[in-house]
Amino acid sequence: MNAIKDKIEALVEEINAHNYAYYVLSTPRISDFEFDQKLKTLETLEHDYPQFVLSDSPTQRVGNGITESFEVVKHKFPMLSLSNSYNKDELIAFEQRIKKLSDQPIEYVCELKYDGVAISLWYNNGHLTKALTRGDGQKGEDITKNVKTIKAIPLKLKGSYPDELEVRGEIFMRKSAFERLNKKRAQEGLDTYMNPRNTTSGTLKQKDSGAVAQRELDVFLYSVHSNDRLFSTQFQGIEMAHQWGLKTPLLLSKYIAVYGSLDGVFDFVKHWENEKQTLDFDIDGVVIKVNNIDQQKALGFTSKFPRWAIAYKFKAEQKHTLLRDVTYQVGRTGAITPVAELKPVEIGGTLVKRASLHNYDQIQKLDLHLGDCVYVEKGGEIIPKITGVDLQKRSLDAQKISYIKHCPACEHPLEKKQDEAVHYCPNQQNCTPQVIGKIEHFISKKAMNIDSLGKETIQMIYEHGYLKTIDQLYDLKAEQLLPLERMAEKSVHNLLKGINASKTMPYPKVLYALGIRHVGETVAQKLCHQFPSIEALKSATLEELQNTHEIGERIAMSIKGFFNNDENRRIVERLKQAGLCFKHTESVKKSKALSGQKIVISGVFSSMSREELKTLILSHDGQVVSSISKNTSMVVAGENMGPKKRKKAMDLHIQIVSEAEFLNRVNEKI
Ligand code: IVH
Repeated sequence: MNAIKDKIEALVEEINAHNYAYYVLSTPRISDFEFDQKLKTLETLEHDYPQFVLSDSPTQRVGNGITESFEVVKHKFPMLSLSNSYNKDELIAFEQRIKKLSDQPIEYVCELKYDGVAISLWYNNGHLTKALTRGDGQKGEDITKNVKTIKAIPLKLKGSYPDELEVRGEIFMRKSAFERLNKKRAQEGLDTYMNPRNTTSGTLKQKDSGAVAQRELDVFLYSVHSNDRLFSTQFQGIEMAHQWGLKTPLLLSKYIAVYGSLDGVFDFVKHWENEKQTLDFDIDGVVIKVNNIDQQKALGFTSKFPRWAIAYKFKAEQKHTLLRDVTYQVGRTGAITPVAELKPVEIGGTLVKRASLHNYDQIQKLDLHLGDCVYVEKGGEIIPKITGVDLQKRSLDAQKISYIKHCPACEHPLEKKQDEAVHYCPNQQNCTPQVIGKIEHFISKKAMNIDSLGKETIQMIYEHGYLKTIDQLYDLKAEQLLPLERMAEKSVHNLLKGINASKTMPYPKVLYALGIRHVGETVAQKLCHQFPSIEALKSATLEELQNTHEIGERIAMSIKGFFNNDENRRIVERLKQAGLCFKHTESVKKSKALSGQKIVISGVFSSMSREELKTLILSHDGQVVSSISKNTSMVVAGENMGPKKRKKAMDLHIQIVSEAEFLNRVNEKI
């Protein structure tokens, strides 16, 4: 019996080594025939002795079964994205921002920006235990079964590794594999796919992992995360991942490089901008990272991006076409967006008919005339944009675009704030696209999530005069709706049920749903933490609002403006009467231990995340403020607190307390 167990173990090890040579190193060592023979022997043995099947056996990759719905799992720490840059000057500005925060010499590591789907892989005791998509950055979908079919991803690591490890990277489809797939589909009379990236993302969401296994997906891993301090630079992290058998850019030395200055970075960028077509996979730029991990930690993150890395995006594909007209859209907040109506042109596999012109400034900058021959660009999933005009082709009598002065929907004169580029229609209560847009926003998935109501139904109820403001949703009656077109008893019942169910939505969602200009989901959450009820928010002063982390003057003014409006106050009151939640239940105060204290937090914390620390402070009645001033009560310093912040705190004689000391103080007081 033991002999069989040993044989199975030896075969697993041997086949995995061949897989590694083939899929990770791209250097096959045996013929396909020999490989298949070995796999067949293993399959037969495993079939006869299922008690000896190993979790990292190559047979465990395929046929792992069907995933009915992907479970949503919280990331160990957020999966953020990168800020973008498009030219040398923006890279120089990136370096200057870093130099302001750190006086150490900087080394950069340049990597390719693989154009695929981000993935987080968890390894426990060397075994692949979870694979999560990026999702919304906080939580991702568990696609482990599908990812296990990708042969370039080891099920078991080699060498010595920490017990708990996370690696992140990008899954993609090689151009050659994509072409093979499309050729096969065309032969079978099936629709062909648009591009490797979308195909990868669609493939990873397939319910049948067997189908994923057919698709030849590949991977590059670009970061390693562990509680142990295993390495001190990004490059060393990649080297370590490579030694564990993971597929990294070290596969070919030209895919990654370390430089002591931006000059090297410029060379790397230029090289790949010219050579990207020679690769068998799509890249849409280069990623530049500060190499030293301590420096990375000290630089930290903004709410969206790391400050220690930036993407340099290659110029998107450009075409020229005819500008037929400029039309105008009115958004839910009254913002006017000019839209270029173009003679349809194919760019990067899609037909482009319209492009956003953003605002009046943009039109002026381009000096657009009707009938112009314009350059149109489309990069990634971004809306196409007009980047220039071919002046040679402009006819002498071409008419300059004159911006509208009145709302295209309600004719109300437009307004423009001095320091903002956007024109607004101020007729919030009577301008149809605004009225309908606000209701659509209110019921949308990320807001109140009333999915029993669709766009067309809202339009119809609005036209019958039953719905002009969001609060009127809660006054709708079956008798009003039943006589309307396509409104059977069942759909009316469902619709009202959906509206009623929305009353249980938590305060941050309700606040976001109100549609206050510049208050998106994240800002709404931040506001709810700081001002745990709508009354507290309504009565907050401009200064108090701006003292909230990440809330600046523009947002603060918008909130004040919202509550200064009688109609908005009436709507909020009515929604309150209807039973909507306007209190942040999560932040129910646990104690008053930090009452009146204005606290700045800085650095990385070991016992909890920054968000958790903030919640803790708020729950003990303290206030989290973003920058150090003479009014700051204390700075809680985690590991690698920024040197500038430390200096400022010391100059102003603000006490700096460590994480442990801070937690002791809170515990002693409660
Ligand atoms: S590092 C904090 N390195 O680009 C984010 N990302 O906008 C650190 N990507 O979806 C990401 N190649 O999956 C990093 N060499 C590379 C990358 C890379 C592609 C993707 C990443 C993310 C997006 C960031």
